[in-house]
Amino acid sequence: MNDQAQVLRTLMANNGNGDIFSKNSNMKVITVASGKGGVGKSNFSVNLALALKELGKKPLILDADFGLANVEIILGERPKYNLSHVLNEQCSMQEIVTESKYGVSFISGGSGIKDMMFLTPTQIDKVGRGIASLEEMSDLLVVDTGAGINEIVLKFCRLAQDVYIIITPEPTSITDGYALIKTIANQMTEHVRVNIIVNKAASRQEAVQVFNNLQSVAKAFLKLEIQYAGFIPYDEKLFMAGKNQVPIAIYDQRAKSSVAYREIAKQICDVKESDEGEKRNLLNKFKSLFSH
Ligand SMILES: Nc1ncnc2c1ncn2[C@@H]1O[C@H](COP(=O)(O)OP(=O)(O)O)[C@@H](O)[C@H]1O
Ligand SMILES: [Mg+2]
Repeated sequence: MNDQAQVLRTLMANNGNGDIFSKNSNMKVITVASGKGGVGKSNFSVNLALALKELGKKPLILDADFGLANVEIILGERPKYNLSHVLNEQCSMQEIVTESKYGVSFISGGSGIKDMMFLTPTQIDKVGRGIASLEEMSDLLVVDTGAGINEIVLKFCRLAQDVYIIITPEPTSITDGYALIKTIANQMTEHVRVNIIVNKAASRQEAVQVFNNLQSVAKAFLKLEIQYAGFIPYDEKLFMAGKNQVPIAIYDQRAKSSVAYREIAKQICDVKESDEGEKRNLLNKFKSLFSH
């Protein structure tokens, strides 16, 4: 009943434009990806969302690392429903949004990547509308993805206005990150900003050095301008936070990684409306990406 009232209000606010899904969304989508696994994507997604909430944003995390469920583990939650309940038509997208004890809500990914690879037209419409409808509760959707350069990761990168690629100073992480950037650069038909986060850095200097090398290679070989979006120092406290299933931003606000996550969140909030990138019609975009 409440849902229906909300839909009506949104329709009215939309000047009776008819279909609330046919307009560009005010919810920004950012996708967190990497070439190599274990570089800190899920911790980044969760702690960034917590820091953004502190700054007055309404972030929502979508755990698109299907099958691994790291977001809920970091948050110490056991959600009742996940995306597979939407795919099986047991729940609506809004019904599977789980509010964590820290106030940031998330959507659990569910069982397997295969479920998302071969969606039926009905499922594409349902999930697409579901994602578009999240605008009612969130202004920023943070999509945490799995490791590797697979189709699902690339689709979620293309759905976003901003992609955050996490790399660490390890050579394999840099080369795998570059491979992902290259695939994104070759596949994109739309404008997506590629932002680089250097995680587990020994110092700011090291992070900047790693970024500069990557930037010059991307410029020379891909003709792509990538952005430096900050660094997170290597922080042994993250291990204890993880062990206790409490995100570091909550576990120890003064930990050096917590401070860094807050710094990055602040920069994201500081982006002027005019620099926010092209607004997306999420339903159409989702349909064009996931139809086969
Ligand atoms: N800045 C950091 N300093 C130290 N350890 C980190 C840092 N970021 C992440 N980690 C650790 O690295 C591991 C992988 O992190 P996770 O966020 O799960 O990566 P991913 O999602 O990319 O697989 C975890 O054990 C986490 O505690
Ligand atoms: Mg992860």
